[in-house]
Amino acid sequence: MLLKKIAITAIFILCSCLTATSAGAQQQTDAHGRQWWQNSVFYEIYPRSFADSNNDGIGDLNGITSKLDYLHELGVDAIWITPCFPSPQVDFGYDVSDYEAIDPMYGTMKDFDRLVSEAKKRNIRVILDFVVNHTSDQHKWFLDSRSSKTSRYRDWYIWRDGKGNQPPNNWQSEFGVPAWTFDKKTGQYYYNYFYPQQPDLNWRNPAVKDAMLDVTRFWYKRGVAGFRLDAVDTLFEDPNLTDNPPSPGKDKFGRPNFDRVHNTKLPEVHTALQDLRKIADQYDAVLIGETWTKDIAELKNYYGEHSNELQMPMDLMFGTVNKLSAPEFRRQIAAVDTAGGWPVFVISNHDMVRSYNRYGDGVHNDEIAKLMASLYLTLRGSPIMYYGEELGMQNNDPKRKEDVKDPEGITGWPGEIGRDGERTPMQWSDATNAGFSKAKPWLPVPPSYKTHNAETEMKDPNSILSVYHQLLAMRHTEPALVNGTYTALNEDDPNVLSYLRKDNDQAILVMLNMSGIAQKVKLNLEPQGFASPKLSVLLSTFQLPAAAGAAETLELAPFGALIAKVTK
Ligand code: NOJ
Repeated sequence: MLLKKIAITAIFILCSCLTATSAGAQQQTDAHGRQWWQNSVFYEIYPRSFADSNNDGIGDLNGITSKLDYLHELGVDAIWITPCFPSPQVDFGYDVSDYEAIDPMYGTMKDFDRLVSEAKKRNIRVILDFVVNHTSDQHKWFLDSRSSKTSRYRDWYIWRDGKGNQPPNNWQSEFGVPAWTFDKKTGQYYYNYFYPQQPDLNWRNPAVKDAMLDVTRFWYKRGVAGFRLDAVDTLFEDPNLTDNPPSPGKDKFGRPNFDRVHNTKLPEVHTALQDLRKIADQYDAVLIGETWTKDIAELKNYYGEHSNELQMPMDLMFGTVNKLSAPEFRRQIAAVDTAGGWPVFVISNHDMVRSYNRYGDGVHNDEIAKLMASLYLTLRGSPIMYYGEELGMQNNDPKRKEDVKDPEGITGWPGEIGRDGERTPMQWSDATNAGFSKAKPWLPVPPSYKTHNAETEMKDPNSILSVYHQLLAMRHTEPALVNGTYTALNEDDPNVLSYLRKDNDQAILVMLNMSGIAQKVKLNLEPQGFASPKLSVLLSTFQLPAAAGAAETLELAPFGALIAKVTK
């Protein structure tokens, strides 16, 4: 398998040519006109929780480097590391106090450089997380900004007078705390869309924009292949501070809802993204966006009118589908497929309950995990895995308020318990602390580590990990899975999601039974150019009858997934 992967990579390199992008820069493309990030499977690493090399209970960069072989064998092409920069860790790294250094908790710049070069040896690119909307309140820019009304960095943040004793307007923060924090020293309020320790940068100030663009250059020069841009929706606010209009209901913190039209998704965001993109293109880098789009029109906007903004706006809409439903997934996939850009599929991340819990029915969870893997790893677009998803890791939510680490949970308890549950240590083995660390980990591992861990699953051909191995290998050996079009089949089927990925004469059929009952499926592939198709099974998550390849009607086991190559 490894040899095949190398052969394919070699072909891509031989056939690679230069294509001018809309931004005027030169980009490497393969024989199909695809760029590297389109051929890549991404893997999100939460560095606190991945691997602890110095046994202090917190993961680190050397820990990640030590696991590169695991990632390479799995078939990962790029890792996205959530913030590893110096930070007071109020929001576990999403409060950056220096954008151009490594937090000593995670290691040194030398460790970082070693990680990048070791990753490169294994054809793995490194993507960093760029927190563009806000800094830490301990960043030197903010320390200066709050020091006086006339300080050099004052206008790098958003400072306003209150209305009498009240904040400047009715905007709310995302985390259940006030969005305006009064600062006694200068008698003004500063704006924080997240925690008070995360003051928003003033992107209307050209000096802020320039400094942030420079940060990207700094990391590109160190070999970073792109950024996941944090919270891009909230980069700009209405300078007139117009109140947001009320909307029905209450939020998860029990506050009345407001329609955040004046402090999220302002059109100016797109100009900033275009600026970031121009630089990214000079380095053949990718920009992935944390974009919470409510519909396809919004998603489209993030690619940019001239495909000159985010190459990969994250479609987090899968995250809002909380139960297995063939019609619901079919609808979402069709919508994203027609959005005009390169789709991105995510089913778990460090801010959402793990897919194992969201889709699991409590009885067939492992089967469902394999089913979901067979879905998002075979769609047209780039998948972003979340560490441990390949093992069937599950949430380990805190049971008592005093155990909560995530400030969102501390503020919101018990209605909002926070995000600790999905951030627990990677389950490497059935040894103490799941082999993550010799010390007590910063978050507790769930009991499931005894069965759901890399070492044990590696030995089991039927494990979730084995299914991931097969799927990732397939993405590298079956060009139709990357280049093929997406065609929905049997669109009225309420239980089985079926589709064809077709690239000229090559086609891959995917059939996913999203119900707990065995389902018979009859397919007509004639309209797709296969009058009497032959199926060769590439992967099935259940025991197939021997003659399945020739059968007209296929039977899928409860929650079964079947992937087959179709030939004439
Ligand atoms: C989105 C990140 O994914 C989340 O973890 C963080 O708390 C907020 N942005 C604020 O940076």
